[in-house]
Amino acid sequence: MPALVVIGTQWGDEGKGKIVDLLSERADGVVRYQGGHNAGHTVVLGQETFILHLIPSGILHPGKRCVIGNGVVVDPAALIEEAGHLEKRGIPIRGRLHVSSNAHLIMPYHKAIDKESERLKGARRIGTTGRGIGPAYVDKMARIGIRVGDLLEPDLFREKLTANLIEMNFLLEQTYKTERFDLEKVYREYMGYANEIRDYIVDTTVLLNQWIDEGKRILFEGAQGTHLDVDHGTYPYVTSSSATAGGACTGTGVGPTRISAVVGVVKAYTTRVGSGPFPTELKDDTGVQLQERGHEFGATTGRARRCGWFDALLVRYAVRINGLIGVAVTKLDVLDACQEINLCVGYRFRGKTFHDMPSSLTVQESCEPIYETVEGWQCSTIGIQRYEQLPVRAKDYLSRLEERIGCRIFLISTGTKREEAILLDDPYSLQGQNR
Ligand code: GDP
Ligand code: IMO
Ligand code: MG
Repeated sequence: MPALVVIGTQWGDEGKGKIVDLLSERADGVVRYQGGHNAGHTVVLGQETFILHLIPSGILHPGKRCVIGNGVVVDPAALIEEAGHLEKRGIPIRGRLHVSSNAHLIMPYHKAIDKESERLKGARRIGTTGRGIGPAYVDKMARIGIRVGDLLEPDLFREKLTANLIEMNFLLEQTYKTERFDLEKVYREYMGYANEIRDYIVDTTVLLNQWIDEGKRILFEGAQGTHLDVDHGTYPYVTSSSATAGGACTGTGVGPTRISAVVGVVKAYTTRVGSGPFPTELKDDTGVQLQERGHEFGATTGRARRCGWFDALLVRYAVRINGLIGVAVTKLDVLDACQEINLCVGYRFRGKTFHDMPSSLTVQESCEPIYETVEGWQCSTIGIQRYEQLPVRAKDYLSRLEERIGCRIFLISTGTKREEAILLDDPYSLQGQNR
């Protein structure tokens, strides 16, 4: 019963969309388990580019079923818009997309609070996507969240909304000095959404466990990345959900004994959007070159991504936290033109050397990276599909990376398109120990 979890190992945007799309070919269902439309997963098919925010990337494969699990926060307007866009581009959605009745709703006041709270934080702001993600998870944990299933019970929905608006409007007007939300207006807006999405709403825990019972293959698509996880990331510069592998269980109602493997997606260098520590960040021309060659501009907000060298400490930590048994390395081709490539193998801080990711934000923010330098291959690897065809130096870089992170590489991605990849091992039958 292969149920495979795919997660990001860095700060998001590792190329999860491309890898999940590739692996969806042999899956029956693809599931999102956390986050919301803060994610932006890019899939390139021929001349067409799709950016998925809330709907699992598996939707682009005809016939595959897709699930938005209970751990996701759903902005119904964003969901309707995304489904509409896909349908216009010839991707059928009805009957293939299922949304958990227990997933929490993003409400208009969540977006307002996200924006205002960031404004008040000033220099300490997180640099959120402004989608209302954090405030929606705050309400979930505070046990005042409104869930997707509540849309189908108008009286209950109104009751919850009425109670919440008393608190939220007070906060918005008194603390943030901004506008309040009108009960009737929000109620009518959300009842309109209810009509549009009611057919998608089910108890997805039943559906998923039934699929597993039937021997179907399920792919869990992580959003964000390990270092944006609310527990294991570079807190407080994180998102508000469990982006690591454990989130796949709580976020779907599929038990850990039913998950067969967890694999990670690793960018061949490092990027980060928003604020927070980034030890290997390059603020010079090399950083700009990585940004340009890698088209490192956010798929959700369009913001320029901060770029830097590969950091083995980050990824080794992700291997440990997620129990990874394999990784897919993406964007190797972006390093094609580099004369020399640096790989961070340690940090130095006030005379002390770290070989494992330190938990202190102070160390993460002020440490100096220790690099190993390898010679670049300086020729194109774009589109290579066979390992033997890679330049020797690219192979050397990959073996060094593999050794330093302590996890086998099962796939190397050499371009944006589905077919631009080298498959080394079948991720659905990966088992056991890392190299
Ligand atoms: P995700 O959030 O992890 O799904 O990643 P994004 O879609 O936000 O960002 C990854 C970007 O890299 C997208 O523009 C992809 O099309 C692109 N990409 C993925 N794999 C490769 C690769 O191997 N080479 C190149 N050049 N681009 C890639
Ligand atoms: P994918 O799935 C990269 C970042 C934001 C910000 C922080 C908190 O495409 O990899 P939030 O709006 O979630 O409260 O913002 O997290 N962030 C991402 N960075 N990729 C993502 O998703 C991200 N989703 C959130 O930039 O720093
Ligand atoms: Mg992204």
